[in-house]
Amino acid sequence: MSGAPFTIAPTAADSPLRVSEPMPSPGTAPAILEKADRFLDPDGDYTQVRAKGLYPYFRAIEVSEGTRAVIDGHEIIMAGSNNYLGLTGHPKVVEAAQAAIAKYGTGCTGSRFLNGTLDLHLELEERLSKFMGTEGCVLFSTGYMTNMGVLQSMASKGEFIFSDKDNHSCIVAGTQVSLATTVRYRHDDMAHLRVQLERVCNEHPAAGKMIVSDGVFSMNGTLAQIPELIALAEEFEVALMIDDAHAVGVVGEGGRGSASVFGLADKVDFITGTFSKSFASLGGFVVGTHATTEYIRHMASTHIFSASMPPANVATVLACLDILEAEPERLDRLAEISDKMRSGFASLGFDVWTSQTPIIPVVVGDMLTCFQFWKDLLAEGVFVNAVVPPAVPAGQALMRTSYMATHTDEELDQILDAFYRVGVKHGVIGTNGQPGTHGGNGSNH
Ligand SMILES: Cc1ncc(COP(=O)(O)O)c(C=O)c1O
Repeated sequence: MSGAPFTIAPTAADSPLRVSEPMPSPGTAPAILEKADRFLDPDGDYTQVRAKGLYPYFRAIEVSEGTRAVIDGHEIIMAGSNNYLGLTGHPKVVEAAQAAIAKYGTGCTGSRFLNGTLDLHLELEERLSKFMGTEGCVLFSTGYMTNMGVLQSMASKGEFIFSDKDNHSCIVAGTQVSLATTVRYRHDDMAHLRVQLERVCNEHPAAGKMIVSDGVFSMNGTLAQIPELIALAEEFEVALMIDDAHAVGVVGEGGRGSASVFGLADKVDFITGTFSKSFASLGGFVVGTHATTEYIRHMASTHIFSASMPPANVATVLACLDILEAEPERLDRLAEISDKMRSGFASLGFDVWTSQTPIIPVVVGDMLTCFQFWKDLLAEGVFVNAVVPPAVPAGQALMRTSYMATHTDEELDQILDAFYRVGVKHGVIGTNGQPGTHGGNGSNH
């Protein structure tokens, strides 16, 4: 999930200017801006897709009420949100957010380090470290900033980060801002990770090292091989960081995330998470030992040099934690829904890759089919997310569907019916529960 939705092929203008090349004449636009013009090239992907009315991104949602939303005046079923517990409009959550605004105002106007720490932030950090069974917790203003901040602060020059090739964009960004050397291993390939660990440990036995992986991969909805990652981390004496953005509040004992699925949460050095999904808010966190979290608190630039989570966001998360702990049946319902949808899609003949969570990819084929499929689904009253290369392999463009504990069986059946009609129309499936002639089935995931 590290790529932008469109690839603009490099042109001659991307090559560095050589001394022998003519200097740009005064008055022409600076070369650095040319890529923006190329993006809007009339023959480019972006303009062509827009001209055909197939552009699926930045669509304005006019009303949002849990599993229902209104787009262009039409009511749709939302099957593309990360609101896994369905709590964004829960009365207790909304009330808590409103009360926090009334008490503290709308923003903190400063970083946690200086004037931006409220008693609410401390309460949430304590609550989360208790919930996750760790000694310490640090809040950040987004999950993106969390992963960047942890990697930047914990991995220094001369040290090594081993990162899964399909890790989220913010982990990639974190490895770029960190001064450590990044070694990428093939997605979910523990044998390749071992080879890389052996090589680097031989060459640099004393250097600090860390493995980092998504706990649940955001495009395929698959759990990382947590026991194997832990075993490798222990064998090679390297630290392990798991990004549980799609796992805390979704999977594991009481929603404690991917390592907790295997009863191994205490074996992971850092678990990071977001509040923008199950916790119906905006913000992020890392949990770890007292020492590591205190270090991160003082060293992570995205924590120190950026304003803290606004009060309503913090109060929202506290209220969501109350509900998660009081109503664990929401997690059971989410798992039940995920199973129903996975087997529903598979029995229609769709390829859902290796999904194990409420993220269920439905492979449709090339980019154009993907955009047409997306538009036809919207006309059928179903909103999902269109995902195209380079975020997924070529020919494997997909509808990323995701579910909430609050979807009704009737809504789920409507989603499957809509997929059936649109899938048959585009030849992605046949009418007999078999793959069609056009889809991207036979995936390498
Ligand atoms: C795996 C993963 N990590 C981190 C993030 C960033 O979270 P946030 O939305 O809080 O910035 C996301 C968001 O999509 C994600 O999917």
